[in-house]
Amino acid sequence: MSKQVTLKLGVEKNLKDITVDIADNTPKPWDGGDQLKFIGGKTSRNDGMDKVSGKAKYTFDIQLPGMLHAVFLRSPHASAVVKSVDTSKAEKYPGVKAVIPVKEQWPMAVRFAGQEILAIAAETQHQAEEALKLVAVEYERKPFVVDIEKAKNGKILVFDETVEEKKTEGDAPGGAAKVSQKGNVRGPRTNGNLSQVDTALAGSDVVVEATYTTQVQTHSAMETHGVVARWDADDQLTVWASTQGTFSVRDELADVFQLPKTNVRVYTEYMGGGFGAKFGAGVYGAMAAKLAKKTKAPVRLMLNRKEEHLAVGNRPSSVQTLKIGAGKDGKLKAIKLLSYGTAGVGTGAGSAGPARVMYFTVDNIFTEESDVFINAGPGAAFRAPGFPQGAFALEQSIDELAYKLAMDPLEFRKLNSATDLVRMAEYEIGAKKFGWEKRNPKVAADKGPIKKGYGMANSVWYYITGAGFQAAIQVNSDGSLELTNGVQDIGGGIRTVMAMVAAEELGLQPKDIVVKIGDTQYGLGPASGGSQTTAGITPAVRNAAYLAKMKMFDIAAPLLGVKPEELDLTDGKIVVAANPSKNLTWKQVASKIPGDKFTVIGERLKDHLEVRPRLLAGVQFAEVEVDTETGVIKVKRVVAVHDCGRPMNRLTLESQINGGVIQGISYALFENRLLDRNTGLMVNANFDQYKIAGSLDMPEIESIIIDVNNGQSSTGAMGIGEPATVPTAAAIANAFYHATGVRIRELPMTPAAVLKVLQG
Ligand code: MOS
Repeated sequence: MSKQVTLKLGVEKNLKDITVDIADNTPKPWDGGDQLKFIGGKTSRNDGMDKVSGKAKYTFDIQLPGMLHAVFLRSPHASAVVKSVDTSKAEKYPGVKAVIPVKEQWPMAVRFAGQEILAIAAETQHQAEEALKLVAVEYERKPFVVDIEKAKNGKILVFDETVEEKKTEGDAPGGAAKVSQKGNVRGPRTNGNLSQVDTALAGSDVVVEATYTTQVQTHSAMETHGVVARWDADDQLTVWASTQGTFSVRDELADVFQLPKTNVRVYTEYMGGGFGAKFGAGVYGAMAAKLAKKTKAPVRLMLNRKEEHLAVGNRPSSVQTLKIGAGKDGKLKAIKLLSYGTAGVGTGAGSAGPARVMYFTVDNIFTEESDVFINAGPGAAFRAPGFPQGAFALEQSIDELAYKLAMDPLEFRKLNSATDLVRMAEYEIGAKKFGWEKRNPKVAADKGPIKKGYGMANSVWYYITGAGFQAAIQVNSDGSLELTNGVQDIGGGIRTVMAMVAAEELGLQPKDIVVKIGDTQYGLGPASGGSQTTAGITPAVRNAAYLAKMKMFDIAAPLLGVKPEELDLTDGKIVVAANPSKNLTWKQVASKIPGDKFTVIGERLKDHLEVRPRLLAGVQFAEVEVDTETGVIKVKRVVAVHDCGRPMNRLTLESQINGGVIQGISYALFENRLLDRNTGLMVNANFDQYKIAGSLDMPEIESIIIDVNNGQSSTGAMGIGEPATVPTAAAIANAFYHATGVRIRELPMTPAAVLKVLQG
């Protein structure tokens, strides 16, 4: 059964009435006409005190009685065959309880330095590490290739047979099987009609073409990957995991050990960042559970920083040749991208997303992407996979084309996104806040060695959400209430947002709501990937709160001598809507709950309204200073304007945008995985030489979130984590051009790279 409601939908204050069908027993979706008390405002994190005081326990902090510590032996060679392994000495080392190889038998191929060979569990971490040194491994070393250009010629093969099918970020769903492979090159995956695009380019009045390269970035989450695993019975496994997906870890472990899902319980009460590399159980998860099974003791296996850089994911590199064309009137006619990149021994080095969807009204778009295998650790999804890479190329080309047409880059973008109302609002608001009109239309206007520049770039990302998530609310007869779901908080602040949503619906305060998450015994929650956590779970929470409210109305109605539909809930009171002086407090009504409590379950239904386009926009403006003598780029100011549907908590949203900009600056200027071509080893697998932006590198960041009411779910929330990092490097590069009159088409923009381009 469904009912019809009319919603006020649109961008900022431009709202239109739209009538939609929504499911019975769900609330009227929040829309542009609703003035809400908490939603859209700023609420401090309800777990902030626990985090800063150290009371919050991360997987890293879990200590269990009798717990063993496990470490991996990893290959020191980029390419080798493990012929045999002798663990007899290691097994006799004091404190050692178990040694388990990752494969049942030798020989085993090793394809990157850092690949797991075996794991040891001992009473202390130190004993396990010492025992590792006693393992004798016979390696037959093989030629390796870590340079992408060298790998392309296929003289040294990373895989001697075709890689088995994997679902990867670069492939269309189900498309992996269709991708061909030749030598070390997997692909190309193409999209669009090449000859049509070439014709459109030939017919363009203005064309720019250039090649852009981007580096490999490692995720570098503060908390490394890892688990603590404990068997409570032969068929009952409990795991604490630093993960972005409690349920995906549960499902994978259930699969590995052939257990019913309900026999595996995963906890992630707190976790220290993931950025896309923490969805599965990992080799470490399965290995910790195997060691725990064998030793009949809990096992802790947390990776160290070096392992983190080598083996558990990175943002693939890219080499992108991009050609775009426009008419004299400034209308984009065609986009053609030929790209390849490396995800090491993994796949997913695509970067065509922005070229395909940023200017979605362009008729002629052709993209081609290939993965080039090298002997290095596998890539993984990383905060908007492929998009910061793609935006770095696309948004610089757009900038270049604007200059060639003698158009302001902002005006050029406006002309080419005119139908995208969200983006148009963001241009307006961002340009004003940034002071774009103060920008000198001339490039390289400063005479001295330090040159100032203004640049901008667009973001784009998908609106992604799942359905079927279930939030439970238990109301107790003392008036307290508990909100539960298995979702994990990867840092976005979902615990707080869940409390805000429930409080809003129930007329209570966020602090009144006890939120329990990060436990697979609770209802299904979304994995925190694709920026879908808030969009996924908040409608379930609101729908649960709505059901709890209805239940409270049923109890209150006879006490107040009215019908349930005549009641309202506000400020901790259940009131007769027509006569608010007739009321009962929340606690008074709760005390009449039959039995001691009730529980309701709210579900995240499929969107009742399709959002077109299914995209998130965003625009960032950057001001830089380039020291042309030292090559140092200093980012002075960033204004970031983003949309995420209906904003839930502006405080945690701003924090996400700040984080995206910070990570974007770090990617733009510093981070770079360096492999030694002579040894095949990563030379900066630490935090000293793998430079990440610090507080002194930070500009003033201004985050602005615009209000977009799409009315697609009961809360209208969408994502922010990924789009916030997509355009930062491109905006800085465009500001660099404005400052110097020179294009920098290579990341990271280190002083050496800057001096190189300045010297021509
Ligand atoms: Mo993300 S790269 O889907 O965590």
